[in-house]
Amino acid sequence: MGFPERRLRRLRRSETARRLVRETRLSADRFIYPMFVMPGEGVRQEVASMPGIHRQTVDRLVEDAREAFALGVPGVILFGLPPVKDARGSGADDPRGVVPSAVRALKRELPDLLVLADVCMCEYTDHGHCGIVEGNEVLNDPTLARLTAAAVAYAEAGCDVVAPSDMMDGRVAAIRRGLDENGFADLPILSYAAKYCSGFYGPFRDAADSAPKFGDRRSYQMDPPNVREALEEVALDIEEGADMVMVKPAMPYLDVVRAVRERFNVPLAAYQVSGEYAMIKAAARNGWLDHDRVMMEALTGIVRAGADFVLTYFAKEAARLLRAGLRG
Ligand code: PBG
Repeated sequence: MGFPERRLRRLRRSETARRLVRETRLSADRFIYPMFVMPGEGVRQEVASMPGIHRQTVDRLVEDAREAFALGVPGVILFGLPPVKDARGSGADDPRGVVPSAVRALKRELPDLLVLADVCMCEYTDHGHCGIVEGNEVLNDPTLARLTAAAVAYAEAGCDVVAPSDMMDGRVAAIRRGLDENGFADLPILSYAAKYCSGFYGPFRDAADSAPKFGDRRSYQMDPPNVREALEEVALDIEEGADMVMVKPAMPYLDVVRAVRERFNVPLAAYQVSGEYAMIKAAARNGWLDHDRVMMEALTGIVRAGADFVLTYFAKEAARLLRAGLRG
């Protein structure tokens, strides 16, 4: 049966009918709020290219996280801005460092908030690469011990999930072993399994002051045209012990999100990265896009593609709209 008997417009005639047949529903339950923690006290600095997002000291960060949690956002992911950077990224596994301090404060003040700790070297190294560097090479195997030490430090501080984002081979297995040997067999790993070498990370690198000082990340992050390789990355990370996997960025890689969803059964995250956030903010500021509408549409698209949860700088704003019963 086709037209004129079949008319798909019948079910689009009212908001109540549309609500009834809606296939994808956004909920604050699906959001993780990324946060940047810096040393000191009482400071909150807005990131120029990310309006509404701040680098902040632990005391301020706790207040921001409290707001997110009160809006129904279940968790946050922490990125650290250490007081000093060096070649081996010493700040990454310093038990007195910015991330462990933030983890302890968050778990003390908001025990039910899920605290995820990003595990990577690039925020802590003076050269800005995600691992140990020799000459112009980012060395894989020597980096694994550094990542493992960082993961164990965050576990000891009390985080709920560690999330390696460096893209070294074998890091999930190394971190799993390190956690198990140190009494953290119950701590889950969310691996940034398919992380692409993307121009959309630009604003994050301003926020974290983590742009590589030489070269680029093409020798470790994935080549944007590849999707079969993403499935290999995900398969290996699951074999190595990843409890959850991630695709990053989100919007330019929704086909990857879908492909991973169809082949694997572990929980799947997508990271709507800084550039995706900045584009929407900038266009909305110019009056070129309707901010709330495209924010909700972008998040809905990521969930519709198959992500179980989304790391998004919009977490608070979107949760606020959902709470008010407004959706895109
Ligand atoms: C690396 C890391 C990056 C992001 C998250 N973890 C940056 C990079 O690989 O350069 C980017 C997130 C974003 O753009 O929002 N530790």
